[in-house]
Amino acid sequence: MSSDQTISSKLDRMLTLEMARVVESTAVAAAYKRGKGNEEDADQVAVDAMRRELNSVPISGRVVIGEGERDKAPMLYIGETVGLGGKEVDIALDPLEGTRVCAKNQPNALAVIALAERGNLLYAPDVYMAKIAVGPGYPKGIINLDASATDNLNAVAKVKNCPVSELSICVMDRPRHRQLIEEIRSANASVFLIGDGDVAGIIHTTDLQKKGIDLYMGIGGAPEGVLAAAALRCIGGQMQGRLLLDTTEKRSRAECMGIIDIEKVYSIEEMAKGDVLFAATGVTDGRMLKGVEFTEDGILTQTLVMSSSTRTVRWINSRHEYTSKSK
Ligand code: FBP
Repeated sequence: MSSDQTISSKLDRMLTLEMARVVESTAVAAAYKRGKGNEEDADQVAVDAMRRELNSVPISGRVVIGEGERDKAPMLYIGETVGLGGKEVDIALDPLEGTRVCAKNQPNALAVIALAERGNLLYAPDVYMAKIAVGPGYPKGIINLDASATDNLNAVAKVKNCPVSELSICVMDRPRHRQLIEEIRSANASVFLIGDGDVAGIIHTTDLQKKGIDLYMGIGGAPEGVLAAAALRCIGGQMQGRLLLDTTEKRSRAECMGIIDIEKVYSIEEMAKGDVLFAATGVTDGRMLKGVEFTEDGILTQTLVMSSSTRTVRWINSRHEYTSKSK
């Protein structure tokens, strides 16, 4: 191994823990707002906490997926630079993935971040994205966003060597997915509906803890698409996404970010390439992570941290002291 590689992998290892710390603090801050019915407030404290923590990490970070475009988001906006200085990285973040569910104290709210070397994460505007994802172990190219849901189900069932009726597909419960859900059910597969949080929905396809979900299909946020692609790069799996640029205003925003082909189907590597780190902490209890617990002995958090270079998946259970910063 060259000394350069040694330095770079040491840095990666440090950053893995730094990112865990960032999402833990963010989740704790958001957890104080669970069930208070105020989405903006919950999001704001999460943004403040994540920004504060990122600014204590020795990186030269540039936000490429953030709280919005510069004129619409005062903090952690796309293009904002964060960190104390150091390795140049691009950052995709969602301090509170599932603001609604946090405000209602319902399952699956997360604090999420992904890191890659400069230029390796898709610069995507905050629009919808059509997505399809499948877990690891399938031949490359098995899913195709341009094919029908039925064709994708048949392809996966064939390789899995099971009838389509044994497949379970995660879809967000939205009116826009009525036809998709009907098509999946007509093919006799089962639909696993989720209310919010398609980053976790896509990670479920990797069956990290026997979720039994084969595929993810449907339309969700483009920022969440890039975050999910980063996560899948670390665990394995395939994903495709297409930005839904259905108005002139969205197309011109995309153009400003360098997107010329508005119909382009992005592969997982085009959304998150090179070495990628991904970290998420549960804010509310979910299928993937336990939410923050406030106990007499301290604050308990559960965090998932993954790295694409080593394919290491860490589940970190932490106990934190109550401090003025955590409130
Ligand atoms: P937020 O992080 O903005 O709360 O997004 C939650 C979420 O459920 C995402 O996971 C998903 O991609 C998006 O909203 C779907 O958007 P919509 O609620 O408009 O269908």
